[in-house]
Amino acid sequence: MSFKTAVARIRIRALMAAVVIAGISSAIVFVLWVGARQVSQGSLSSGEFASFILYAGLVASSVSTMAEVWGDIMRAAGAAGRLLELLQAEAQIEDPAQPSHIPQAEQASIQFENVSFHYPANPGRTAIDQLSIEILPGETVALVGPSGAGKSTMFQLLLRFYDITSGSLKINGVDIRALSLAELRGMMAIVPQEPVIFSANALENIRYGRPDASDAEVIAAARAALVAPFIERLPEGYQTFLGERGTRLSGGERQRIAIARAMLKNAPILLLDEATSALDTEAETLVQRGLEAAMQGRTTLVIAHRLATVQNADRILVLDQGRIVEHGTPAELSRKGGLYSRLASQQFGLHGLGADHHHAPQSDIRR
Ligand SMILES: Nc1ncnc2c1ncn2[C@@H]1O[C@H](COP(=O)(O)OP(=O)(O)O)[C@@H](O)[C@H]1O
Ligand SMILES: [Mg+2]
Repeated sequence: MSFKTAVARIRIRALMAAVVIAGISSAIVFVLWVGARQVSQGSLSSGEFASFILYAGLVASSVSTMAEVWGDIMRAAGAAGRLLELLQAEAQIEDPAQPSHIPQAEQASIQFENVSFHYPANPGRTAIDQLSIEILPGETVALVGPSGAGKSTMFQLLLRFYDITSGSLKINGVDIRALSLAELRGMMAIVPQEPVIFSANALENIRYGRPDASDAEVIAAARAALVAPFIERLPEGYQTFLGERGTRLSGGERQRIAIARAMLKNAPILLLDEATSALDTEAETLVQRGLEAAMQGRTTLVIAHRLATVQNADRILVLDQGRIVEHGTPAELSRKGGLYSRLASQQFGLHGLGADHHHAPQSDIRR
């Protein structure tokens, strides 16, 4: 159907073009014919005729150029209008006039005190509901819960992409709204679920974690994240182009680059959103080792999708509908047999983690 209409459209366009071109050409031929007759009758000199043709040609070509330029100007005006709209958009979240600083910023504790939040786009639904939790310096806390529970929202609030609706959110006892955004976000390194790889070489891709880092620092971070052996095996080592959006890398390799970025940033807080996509066992072990290195000595919040991560955490928070429904050490929660053990059986493929914990396989279980 659409093919037929397309054919019909092209036919009409071709016909129109033929008519217009034929019209223009016959007009030119007619003018030349009139001129030539006048020259042969002697009412026009051949020099005058020649200069008429020359000038007519010049005028025609400049008119067509002007039409083209005008089209360009209109297009640029449209694009500029959209750009200006973006430039004039005001950020909802702003730096305070007199920002405070975080004391003892080498380490970080995080306090959620009675935090409630709903997204501006969705005011009817509470995304986080009166949530209170204190996360100690160096602790690893796994966030577990069904989809839509509010796990990612906790990250967004910590990064201050949104301001909380009520309660307070503090780092080392300082309300994050009192900090400059640069200082706040400088405290955190993020390993996202789907890391973005830029079309640049491996060295530059890792340097993105801290743009002023030297080559030696980048390589040291790659070593620390255990990604160096992989990069060194690439055809041109650190100079290897990683392809448009990292298409030359597997999911696990992309994540390991992101871990190296986080190591390079060397921030006291690590926010980790584990990939849900299944990696093969070897890739997963490599990612896991890199992560363990990155978590070392950092306050880590991890949205956990793998059993190994959950079981190695110091504490587990089980969220549902924006509330903490259970929390405790992995051993405590396994014994309880609540939402966590039900989730564990669904999400991690274990049947009643609480009931037969001893039969739990040693290796990582994926969905
Ligand atoms: N940008 C957004 N605008 C409006 N509502 C959102 C937005 N992001 C998430 N939500 C809602 O907030 C709730 C929590 O979502 P989220 O934190 O992404 O859950 P999780 O990461 O645990 O799966 C969900 O009900 C979700 O629909
Ligand atoms: Mg999420």
